[in-house]
Amino acid sequence: MVKKTKSGGEDGGSEKPAGKKAPPKSGFLRDLQNYGDPDFSIYMRRAFALSMGYSQDELKKPVVGIANTFSKFNPCHRTFPDLVEAVKRGVSAAGGLPLEFPTISVHESTLAPNSMKFRNLMAMDTEEMIRAQPMDAVVMLGACDKTVPAQLMGAASAGKPAIQLIGGPQMTGRYREHRVGACTDCRRFWVEYRAGRMGETDIREVEGKLVTTAGSCAVMGTASTMAAIAESLGMTLPGTAAIPAVHADRIRAAEATGAAAVRMIRANLTPDKIITQKSIENATRVLLALGGSTNGVVHLAAIAGRVGIKLDLHRFNELSDTTPVLAAVKPVGSEFYMEDFYAAGGIGAILRELKHLLHLDCMTITGETLGERLASEEKHWVDRRVIRPFDDPFEPEGGLVALFGSLAPDGAIIKRSAATKSLFEKTGRAVVFSGLADMNDRVDDPDLDVTEDDFLVLQNVGPASPAAMPEAGFLPIPKKLLQKGIKDMVRMSDARMSGTAYGTIILHIAPEAHVGGPLAFVKSGDRIKLSVKERRLELLVDDAEIARRRKEWEKRTVPMPDRGYDRLFRESVLQAPDGCDFRFLRKE
Ligand code: FES
Repeated sequence: MVKKTKSGGEDGGSEKPAGKKAPPKSGFLRDLQNYGDPDFSIYMRRAFALSMGYSQDELKKPVVGIANTFSKFNPCHRTFPDLVEAVKRGVSAAGGLPLEFPTISVHESTLAPNSMKFRNLMAMDTEEMIRAQPMDAVVMLGACDKTVPAQLMGAASAGKPAIQLIGGPQMTGRYREHRVGACTDCRRFWVEYRAGRMGETDIREVEGKLVTTAGSCAVMGTASTMAAIAESLGMTLPGTAAIPAVHADRIRAAEATGAAAVRMIRANLTPDKIITQKSIENATRVLLALGGSTNGVVHLAAIAGRVGIKLDLHRFNELSDTTPVLAAVKPVGSEFYMEDFYAAGGIGAILRELKHLLHLDCMTITGETLGERLASEEKHWVDRRVIRPFDDPFEPEGGLVALFGSLAPDGAIIKRSAATKSLFEKTGRAVVFSGLADMNDRVDDPDLDVTEDDFLVLQNVGPASPAAMPEAGFLPIPKKLLQKGIKDMVRMSDARMSGTAYGTIILHIAPEAHVGGPLAFVKSGDRIKLSVKERRLELLVDDAEIARRRKEWEKRTVPMPDRGYDRLFRESVLQAPDGCDFRFLRKE
């Protein structure tokens, strides 16, 4: 039975001939395709909308798109069907029309050569689908490492009201007497296995215990760091970044997020009002106070670039000098996981401790300023075993710091909160691997000339290289040193490192070797000086010798991919300090 509408037509059609009028600016009839006849476009849009069974009254409501990144290739997003249903409830209850749509989903372990290569593709997909489809606001569901930054980048460029719903971290599992969570413990046990202290059967048993629930990694890896950044920017509902994926609070957060999206339409709260220089600084403080993932620096730079802001690494160091590490969630410390962090007070507790350093006038997606949010949470309980007060921190300075010098003229990053302090001021002999294959071939060679005092150097794994900046910066310690009981040594590269990894590891060296950064000219036997105190990374080779090596390097030929995304990526990707975004996607 087809209902007659107030305008009198059946199936929503008008009895009057369509007149020329301005196309709607909101709802399902906005953002029309252009046939040169807007009335025809409306007529066509309505015809197809009606074919989905929506009534005219529904189609008059503000539309909230729901960017659903559920994928059977993405185990971290396994809960998303339930979350989408909850978001829809929230949107409908608040008077909106929820319309779910798919975008690319990017998971760490199921994409070759690595997920980072596809973050920008996902950001482009997200941006264009938000812009091109008729929605007044969007709820973006993300969890695994690259999905949250990709969505924030896309939303910032699309310019419609947008709110992030985080999928949430996994709960921990048990391996014998050990409490375990992906993926700091994955690495810890793998080191034991490589050193010969665990057998094949044992490591297989561990493999089955590391990821026992849906959700993103259970530690303060990149996914949890990006969730924290999203909340600190003001792009999620307060208190929602750290809720575990399988916790009932997560479903309630989804419903509330849907309702908030409808309110954002009324307030026209677009991302450029929320992602600002000040909120980027707030998010940087939180990243530093968490000792969060080094990847967070790259992603934050990319998000900032979408609203025309440069994340200055010198300013980053100033913030690091005055921001203590307040949380001890693995890989910082050895005890706590994200479920503990959520129970301890979550991001709100960190923000309140940093309150005197933050820009409290920043707007958030609720329409409240950050200051108003924090004032309303003053009496919230905090577990001080996990989140320390500002004047009694875990570490007096921020967890990450940028290094500069002749080996990294544009900067490099070290996560000092997960590194060995006794290695911070040191000069060492370089043991160089020219790429991933070379490292794989030689690192465990018993004849490799290496001691624990050497610096392992990996080249040609930066963003513009064919390797596309994998998380290979956690260079394996040579087996013969592992067997001597060596647990850490200085390692450096133009690669990234998983946020779940640890060690005295220098990452994101810029410019990268592939484009002729000084890293390309390091040879085994060179001396390198590291000083975390002075923020220096110096290649102790004279300029004439570097110039000679550069001439040699210029003779090499590296073929460019012929076509497709590979080609676009290699031609357009920027260096780490610019977030590895594509040059044509940043806002100048
Ligand atoms: Fe998805 Fe770690 S693999 S968050």
